[in-house]
Amino acid sequence: MIIRIICLLLMLSGSALADQAASSSGMVHAIRLPEVKIDLKSGPGKEKAAAYCAICHSLDYITTQPGFAKETWGEIVAKMVKVFGAPIPQAVTQEITAYLSAAYGKNSQ
Ligand code: HEC
Repeated sequence: MIIRIICLLLMLSGSALADQAASSSGMVHAIRLPEVKIDLKSGPGKEKAAAYCAICHSLDYITTQPGFAKETWGEIVAKMVKVFGAPIPQAVTQEITAYLSAAYGKNSQ
């Protein structure tokens, strides 16, 4: 029993030492990603889309999509809220969906 405890202590202190070595030798790095500014097309609802849809990812998630039907944009916005937890009020999701389908929808250019 005692032997086991000693082994356990040795293992624990060994990994603590390894952690220390890793952080003091500068193995933890921070990287700075370039900031890419993406301008959305103008139109009613643009400001809200730009504010809410850039919380988690770049706005090129919007601008690089093929022109989706309004229904599809609605499903995407709903997925951002329900699946990924986007903090967008219900009324605003409708406004953003209308904007997306007007600016980046099937019939947009
Ligand atoms: C809470 C965080 C969050 C917010 C806010 C958010 N998204 Fe997303 N979005 C994600 C995640 C997570 C993914 C999927 C993972 C990835 O590909 O990076 C994603 C992926 C996407 C995709 C790629 C296709 C897909 O369905 O996966 C599109 C398009 C998209 N988002 C549009 C939007 C739009 C439009 C808004 C604003 C209404 C928005 N996102 C707001 C988290 C978010």
